[in-house]
Amino acid sequence: MSSEDTQNQISVDLMKKEDLPEILAIERVSFPTPWTEGMFMDELRTEHAQCLVVKIELNGKAMIAAYIIFWFVADEVHLHNLAVKSEFRRRGLAYSLMSLMRGIAAQVGINRQTLEVRESNRGAINLYRKCGFVVKGKRVQYYTDTHEDALVMWAEKQQEEQNA
Ligand SMILES: CC(C)(COP(=O)(O)OP(=O)(O)OC[C@H]1O[C@@H](n2cnc3c(N)ncnc32)[C@H](O)[C@@H]1OP(=O)(O)O)[C@@H](O)C(=O)NCCC(=O)NCCS
Repeated sequence: MSSEDTQNQISVDLMKKEDLPEILAIERVSFPTPWTEGMFMDELRTEHAQCLVVKIELNGKAMIAAYIIFWFVADEVHLHNLAVKSEFRRRGLAYSLMSLMRGIAAQVGINRQTLEVRESNRGAINLYRKCGFVVKGKRVQYYTDTHEDALVMWAEKQQEEQNA
């Protein structure tokens, strides 16, 4: 995916307040405890948060297909949110957004990435492994809705080279 793919009419843009109704609809079907509008607004106001959306144009109408939010924290990137609209899954969008996150971070000299993922979320765990992440720890009963554990995953440049 390029930042402007004219053949497939795919673009990556900065997330805006006007995108939130569509994002909230994706959020509600993607997570047991979806983020609220206020939580997204907080991210949009946070200077070190990077909030990006993938838009796909179908029949002349652009719709949001995916989004990612990550933070630069010292020399690390922290993934905060990632979701793909159901009808656009398994087409490489999440992988492309993860690659974009890594690329943007590398441009500012950051090569360490981390995230937390529900232990039951096999699809996301597979995605992160494919992106070079490995499990380095566990936060017991981290998710208050289901009391599920979170896996803490890290990717560093050296690991990615080993996994390649
Ligand atoms: C997880 C999610 C973001 C993946 O998005 P996606 O665009 O479908 O993922 P991709 O097409 O880029 O998949 C890349 C790789 O991830 C893995 N993967 C993705 N979805 C998977 C699934 N449902 N089952 C198993 N592996 C999966 C595969 O290894 C895949 O590579 P492959 O297609 O060559 O086998 C998407 O399913 C989603 O939005 N889920 C709900 C929200 C969520 O769980 N977000 C992550 C929170 S930590």
